[in-house]
Amino acid sequence: FSQNIIVEIDSEQPTDTISKHIYGHFAEHLGRCIYGGLYVGDDSKIPNTSGVRNDIIEALKELQIPNLRWPGGCFADTYHWKDAIGPKDQRKHIENYSWGNVREDNGFGTHEFLNLCEQIGAEPYLAVNMNSGTIEEAVEWEQYVNNANGSSNLTDLRAENGRAKPWNVKYWGIGNESWDCGGDMTADYYSNLYKRYARAMTSYSNTEGLYRIAVGPGWDDYDWTETVMKNIPLKSIEGLSVHHYSVFNWENKGSSFDFTEEEYFKTMQRAWFMEEFITKNSEVMDKYDPEKKVGLIVDEWGGWYNVMPNTNNAFLYQQNTMRDAMIAGLTLNIFNNHADRVHMANLAQTVNVLQAVILTEGEKMILTPTYHVMNMYKVHQDALLLPTKIENNPDYGNVPAISVSASKDNNGRTYISLVNIDIKKDYEVTINVDNLKPRSATILSSEKIQDYNTFENPNKISPKEFKDYKSKKNQITLDIPAFSVVVFEAN
Ligand code: AHR
Repeated sequence: FSQNIIVEIDSEQPTDTISKHIYGHFAEHLGRCIYGGLYVGDDSKIPNTSGVRNDIIEALKELQIPNLRWPGGCFADTYHWKDAIGPKDQRKHIENYSWGNVREDNGFGTHEFLNLCEQIGAEPYLAVNMNSGTIEEAVEWEQYVNNANGSSNLTDLRAENGRAKPWNVKYWGIGNESWDCGGDMTADYYSNLYKRYARAMTSYSNTEGLYRIAVGPGWDDYDWTETVMKNIPLKSIEGLSVHHYSVFNWENKGSSFDFTEEEYFKTMQRAWFMEEFITKNSEVMDKYDPEKKVGLIVDEWGGWYNVMPNTNNAFLYQQNTMRDAMIAGLTLNIFNNHADRVHMANLAQTVNVLQAVILTEGEKMILTPTYHVMNMYKVHQDALLLPTKIENNPDYGNVPAISVSASKDNNGRTYISLVNIDIKKDYEVTINVDNLKPRSATILSSEKIQDYNTFENPNKISPKEFKDYKSKKNQITLDIPAFSVVVFEAN
């Protein structure tokens, strides 16, 4: 080992709580995420509950997903929620012009989504249609799902459709990528329109505690952040959404499974950009919101490659390899370490789309390497962030090879997650931490960075017990293999 890498953990100085919502997910009406993915319909022979696959429900419960964003994405700005309530055979069809013009029968609508969230214990995060919709439509949606005050036209309609009590949806996105598919707006125009939505949506007496999320930038356009933060008063905004995908070339994103080391490295560079993106957006937000009340909401992130051969270009179906596990581990460490400002994040997307945690083929379902990383990291949810420092961190190209984050939960357990993105080199790492003994450790690794789970070999990549460490008083020393993720539990 060429370098003596030292990780210092300050276990006496916990800082912010790592919001569990950093571990959120995103499910859009896109390709086979909803239809033919998590939703197979009530009369499918695949075991389901109200049309949602039972195996997926179980997998998402195990992951303890804290929130789920729906129905888009770009699709949200074409969606009219009233078309997808009431008896399924009477629902109007929709042509999904955002994603391949496919016809959807609206069998999966507001009730189906919110009941699913309830079943898996996730908070729903609804994105309102700000482009082809109206303010009235958004207000009515919010009243339809949240109004608890006796009888109104909307509560009567909700009860008629089988749901008497409200769902109490807290998280509302007002627009999506309004600088692009959400309406090609300028930041000035967007923030004025946002204020009208934000005001109207909180005009009823039952709307206290609503968490309204405004659109932020999707690349290093910090002027957009500046304009939105300057124009919208703090009383009207609870969150600012940003998007960042680890794409090295939008014209040709490369294969999701058959990639070179150079492409891998470029993906890591783009994943590491998340650190700068959060830091610079936070600096702008600090000017207008020094108390850090407004959350930075990274509600779309992950790897994005060319679609799998012979699949629909608009369906964004891709394979999920150890490269994606590296994106996940590195990015989640970045989010944890920015817990003061990052209050929520949503991996794109849950099933069969982009960096999915679950892939399906007919009756079969597999968990991807990204699923396993999210599962290993769930211990950080709502735990106190412990400050970390890395000395002598080697560079992989111009990206730090090792990343780390640490937290302490309510039961006094400490969790340390480490990632080595270097494709060739193992490293010895010494963790200095007062009065802690490791209880167990888990590793996710594989022989090749291009490895992935298949329907024939679904457990090729899965977490294993990690034993390659020594511990003595106040110190853990481990050998972290190339491209691996390790999580320690200690107390
Ligand atoms: O996640 C796929 C798409 O990426 C979303 O619909 C859009 O918001 C973003 O451009």
